[in-house]
Amino acid sequence: MGLLFLSFTITLAGCGSDKSALAFSNSTTNGQSEIKVAQDNDPAFASIQKDLIGVSCIKCHNANQTKHSNLTSKAVVLENADDMLYRMTDAWDIGVDNMPPKGNPVNPVVIKEFKSWMSDNKFANLQKSLFQASCLKCHSATQTKHANLTSKAVVIEKYDDIIYKMTTAFDIDDEPMPPVGKGNKVSPELIKELQKWKESL
Ligand code: HEC
Ligand code: HEC
Repeated sequence: MGLLFLSFTITLAGCGSDKSALAFSNSTTNGQSEIKVAQDNDPAFASIQKDLIGVSCIKCHNANQTKHSNLTSKAVVLENADDMLYRMTDAWDIGVDNMPPKGNPVNPVVIKEFKSWMSDNKFANLQKSLFQASCLKCHSATQTKHANLTSKAVVIEKYDDIIYKMTTAFDIDDEPMPPVGKGNKVSPELIKELQKWKESL
């Protein structure tokens, strides 16, 4: 995995930009989030840069221009991910706003890779904001009594029960989670995010 990240290069043939467009690993221009991205070893994002952005987008969406979003930055890609996906898929059917604007649509295999990266990122966020905050004290990977909610497979398998325990179980007093007195109820917004993530799988 580490090797993949290190060996990542793209030839910017004939597009008028220099290599610094890809220097997201030491970019410092856009403040905190950029620096954080730089320290984040994310081989899957390196693949996205190579297979998707580098092939189909970087000619216009690079770090050296200011008109379009800089898709060499992970923070920017995360922010625009839904819009990017739309423009690579549905927008082509409609024939408006499609990206890239000229040439062929992006290879479906690459789009699938992008979707799976997006989904993993959303799950990582949910791990922090929802499970770690409200559940892992008891449902961690290091205990064996309760469902291990750090595992994506377990969360998928127990999904209906998890939603139930965080919502309806409170109304009918059926062992809600987190148990009463053991932490705050999970916010409806976070539950919605979990539902959106599950639906996108
Ligand atoms: C030939 C140049 C070109 C290429 C290649 C290109 N874009 Fe764009 N892109 C544009 C232009 C011009 C706009 C602004 C016009 C608009 O919003 O439709 C834009 C706008 C966008 C936006 C809206 C946010 C913004 O930056 O304004 C997204 C998201 C986007 N492009 C994604 C992509 C993705 C993903 C790819 C690669 C699959 C890609 N683009 C390839 C020229 C390009
Ligand atoms: C203070 C400890 C504690 C916390 C925090 C906690 N749980 Fe539990 N959880 C338990 C215990 C104990 C059980 C087993 C009791 C039972 O089966 O009713 C359980 C059972 C469950 C079950 C059903 C049985 C299973 O393990 O498959 C689900 C689903 C669940 N918890 C989800 C959650 C979720 C989601 C959160 C966070 C929002 C959470 N729990 C937070 C202690 C906790």
